Amino acid sequence: MSDVRLTRRCVERLKPYRPGKPIEEVQREFGLREVIKLASNENPLGPSPAAVEAILRASKEVRLYPDNDCYHLKRALAAHLDVEVEQILVGHGSDELIHNIGLAFISPGDEVMMCSGPFSQYEFTAALMDARPVYVPMRDFRYDLEAMARRLNRRTKVVFIGNPTNPTGAIVTAEELAAFTAAVPDATIVVLDEAYYEYVSDPAYPRSLDLVRQGRRVIVLRTFSKIYALAGLRVGYGATTTELAEALERVREPFNVSSIAQAAALASLGDEEQVARTRTLNRDSLAYLYRELERLHLSYTPSHANFVWLDLGRDCGEVFVELLKRGVIVRTGDVFGAPTHIRVTTGLPEQNARFIAALEEVLGAGAG
Ligand SMILES: Cc1ncc(COP(=O)(O)O)c(C=O)c1O
Repeated sequence: MSDVRLTRRCVERLKPYRPGKPIEEVQREFGLREVIKLASNENPLGPSPAAVEAILRASKEVRLYPDNDCYHLKRALAAHLDVEVEQILVGHGSDELIHNIGLAFISPGDEVMMCSGPFSQYEFTAALMDARPVYVPMRDFRYDLEAMARRLNRRTKVVFIGNPTNPTGAIVTAEELAAFTAAVPDATIVVLDEAYYEYVSDPAYPRSLDLVRQGRRVIVLRTFSKIYALAGLRVGYGATTTELAEALERVREPFNVSSIAQAAALASLGDEEQVARTRTLNRDSLAYLYRELERLHLSYTPSHANFVWLDLGRDCGEVFVELLKRGVIVRTGDVFGAPTHIRVTTGLPEQNARFIAALEEVLGAGAG
């Protein structure tokens, strides 16, 4: 009996997802009361009050299944993105949409291209579908689209581009993206994962939805988890051609977005002030962190998102633990293949200051 193989070979090679450490776990482990989490690029200001109200209202109806078609949310998103309703995708997090891209389009042996050290869901989806991952190293912590273009071939089914890139915060410019998409074969789908879209202010950032409107085989993904601060509800969205949207609809789980998530997302879309306030806070936090990191002589990658990728110049593992002991959770670079780096999410001013004070203390004490 013991030599019976139950698990698919490709599943045996998968590693379970390692999230940023939860606050409660750190409180328990280190006996701390005050713990701050700057590890998962969440929004410290929290959701729009309109979203919270919508959540309370929707909570009264949870005995019913949610709207399977996300009727109201899809229409609001179509208006928001200026595309047709049939082009809109909604999932329980953009993670689900990435997963569904695998189910709908990736066959065993297909090539799936991404940069090395990527956001893990791209790699996970390729592995789950028994595809061949093609890793193209970043250059200066940025996607090297020229090198990626050289690796394209008839077997390339999906290319994942995180823009801004998690974990480095860099962007791919409109010019770079246009040159790349011109080289993409007809049968290749380009996924532009724009989870941090709303934080970007650089005019060189691509208008990715134009590619969708032109009918290119591009899938643009965005989320309510980041700037809209609804990470706990899991709702992501996207836009693509009707052809690709139809295929994604076939593999979607029934009732995949909860009624509470739909209501909160819909209400959030109407609150531009919450988005503007978060952007301002983030801009100020980045400026503060850059100043302080320079004072500590630590190098960092200028960020277009709500996190900073910085080089400690020493193994990140020990620094991570020392920061935990001081009640500060960050993300270690080793999960992204960069063992001397950490990624820190911007917080409230007092949280940023607490992170810097803890880091200074830990580095001053010669950790590592
Ligand atoms: C680049 C990127 N894409 C997608 C996601 C997942 O977002 P969601 O919460 O919508 O699944 C994240 C979350 O960290 C991310 O960093």
